[in-house]
Amino acid sequence: MNISQTYFGHEAKTSPTTDKEKIQIFKRHLERIKTTSIKAFTEFAIIRLPEYFWTLPASTTNLNHAAGESLIDHVMGCLYISRQVCDAQFKDHWTQRQKDQLVSALILHDGWRCGIEGSEYRITQEMIDEKSIDQKLLGALKTTPEHPEIGYRQLLLLVQEFNQKSGETGGISSRNVSMILKAVRYHYGPWMEVKHKPFSLSWPYDSVVMQVHNIDFHQCHNMIYITRGDQDHG
Ligand SMILES: [Fe+2]
Repeated sequence: MNISQTYFGHEAKTSPTTDKEKIQIFKRHLERIKTTSIKAFTEFAIIRLPEYFWTLPASTTNLNHAAGESLIDHVMGCLYISRQVCDAQFKDHWTQRQKDQLVSALILHDGWRCGIEGSEYRITQEMIDEKSIDQKLLGALKTTPEHPEIGYRQLLLLVQEFNQKSGETGGISSRNVSMILKAVRYHYGPWMEVKHKPFSLSWPYDSVVMQVHNIDFHQCHNMIYITRGDQDHG
């Protein structure tokens, strides 16, 4: 393991290098998933996430998300909130299957934040000039607003591979795939790239899809408020 950036307090203090270490980071949340095929698929996808996922800052421009927060911190924050959503707030309104779909989608929702490995998005001089980004970040990895769509498509490929390898056990059902991938694809909610909205202004208001967007949004904005004191952040 290499010493990575500071994590906010969950058990992962270092950057994982092996599959086992990657799974270990999400272990306590993977254990919340009771549908065997959803858990197995989520683990299958975790170990195939781009390497940059494990060390990326939550905000690649240092303008959004909490100051000093890593992407893992952000995902872990979302998972922490999801426990309250599932087991307290909406305790009697969720089926186990929905809880499993929610946890899986949250773990995977930002998996391809900077695009596909080998053709990652990076910070350009134009972006620095336009958005007052620190000059030192020129050439650094950059979150792309297309990452929900990219993540969705990468997961679709992984579903195919997972189901082929699962053979007689049947893999993950289309019902579960549909909800998990839809939640990843639409997690930007109203801010998703218009060109990727398949049905003009429509947005699927399933509970799982809605909560992935809601949890993601509020984890981000609450931490901005706490760590930056910015009450007016858009
Ligand atoms: Fe996110």
